[in-house]
Amino acid sequence: MRRIILAGNWKMHKTQAEALEFLQGFCHAVQETPEDRELVLCVPFTALGVMSKNLHGTRIRLGSQNIHWEESGAFTGEISAPMLLEMGVTYAIVGHSERRQYFGETDDTVNKRLLAAQKHGMTPILCVGESKEQRDAGQTEAHIYSQLEKDLANVDEKNLVVAYEPIWAIGTGDTCDAKEANRVIGLIRAQLSTPDVPIQYGGSVKPDNIDEIMAQPEIDGALVGGASLKPDAFARIANYQ
Ligand code: PGA
Repeated sequence: MRRIILAGNWKMHKTQAEALEFLQGFCHAVQETPEDRELVLCVPFTALGVMSKNLHGTRIRLGSQNIHWEESGAFTGEISAPMLLEMGVTYAIVGHSERRQYFGETDDTVNKRLLAAQKHGMTPILCVGESKEQRDAGQTEAHIYSQLEKDLANVDEKNLVVAYEPIWAIGTGDTCDAKEANRVIGLIRAQLSTPDVPIQYGGSVKPDNIDEIMAQPEIDGALVGGASLKPDAFARIANYQ
């Protein structure tokens, strides 16, 4: 059975104090959230420690925003699976378009990061999606198929989440039409050999569009940036109707 996963991606937002303040409001607001919805917060590395302590015993899972393929070594600015595991991290976002665009992440490094997360028993959230130029040029499908083929080489689909995040919809307020997101996610599913990989939609998910997004048959959850920073907004997303 396909799981429902609602994950917040805080990106480079929130100090430890701000993270704790968020939790106070959020934990309370998701007390009634149906148990079959998994809730994940992917927070900055500096907030993992305090979040880990405070999420202990709650249903909320902790995620990182990246993971390196080596366990240790001369990789300034990177973080490894054992370091994340020690913090209770169970999910890792890999290949987010901001990493690909601004930090030179390639399909090859994305693949290595996915394999490293799985090797250590963590569940990677692989982000794929097209730019505005690619969409306008009719290259959406070809681009995503190429990403999937390269990124998923030797990856175990039984321990994987995929997020379809059209780049033009991220942080722009310009959400992809729910039916179009459903169509692309259906195409992604058809490329996988395991039918029940959870596939999320991401890109300007908000309290006022989550109900329509989650009503789509192919969509198993959301990866939420901006709207996951506010406890009320992210709780409303978790409590979609
Ligand atoms: P957004 O970001 O919800 O702010 O558009 C989504 C993401 O980048 O994962």
